[in-house]
Amino acid sequence: MQPLLQLSNVYVEYNRFRALCGIDLACGEKQIIALLGPNGAGKSTILKAAFGLLPISQGTVQWQGETVKPAPPDMVQSGLSFTPQGKSVFPTLSVKENLETAVHFIRDRKDIQNRLDEVVSLFPALEGKWNAEAGTLSGGQQQMVVLARGLMTRPRLLLLDEPSLGLAPKLVKEVFLKVKEINQRLGTAFVIVEHNLKSLLDIVDHAYVLRQGKVVSSGPPSDAALRETIQNIFKL
Ligand SMILES: Nc1ncnc2c1ncn2[C@@H]1O[C@H](COP(=O)(O)OP(=O)(O)O)[C@@H](O)[C@H]1O
Ligand SMILES: [Mg+2]
Repeated sequence: MQPLLQLSNVYVEYNRFRALCGIDLACGEKQIIALLGPNGAGKSTILKAAFGLLPISQGTVQWQGETVKPAPPDMVQSGLSFTPQGKSVFPTLSVKENLETAVHFIRDRKDIQNRLDEVVSLFPALEGKWNAEAGTLSGGQQQMVVLARGLMTRPRLLLLDEPSLGLAPKLVKEVFLKVKEINQRLGTAFVIVEHNLKSLLDIVDHAYVLRQGKVVSSGPPSDAALRETIQNIFKL
């Protein structure tokens, strides 16, 4: 099966600092992939490079089977969406208006209402909150809004950077369960970055562990070598 997104031997530099040193990874259609690793390992850099926010100095990105030079508007149009690190809602806009900030990527006006209706139906926990200022919501609800906004363009793959940031474990679990539900209901694939959350392994098909810009281990979550690497790096 051809992967939806594939990075082959990807290098990225910030000035002369090499942040990614030959990354190989793939996400298949409807899969959930985890990128784990300590701070500074290069996880966010991978998502930004795949989405076209950073230039790649070597290697290739293949999207839906074609080698591409990623640029954010093209990637969004062709079904990739990116949710950056942090609960990045617009605090003084309503929840609905937050979702509408994604619509300039949607060409057809009728489609906008359809997408809003679809996304609203996926988040019953936000019922009654759609007109509230996003900044007044709890941390868990704000992360749900961020997730909802990422889905407004109905992506085939959503790149999600540290959705657990600042959330209590119970809320993190809720976010992961929602991701799994969306994956099953809409068939959306996810690449999820987390620091060291073993609970993420419960919902993924495949995980990559990164260290200093390299993949040091990868495999399905049941893989003993993968689990041992995670154990050793994080001393869990
Ligand atoms: N804008 C930048 N300029 C210079 N160095 C950066 C920049 N962004 C990230 N880096 C460096 O690149 C490495 C990887 O960063 P990042 O991808 O953000 O790691 P992670 O998301 O795994 O914590 C780190 O050493 C970080 O300091
Ligand atoms: Mg990061």
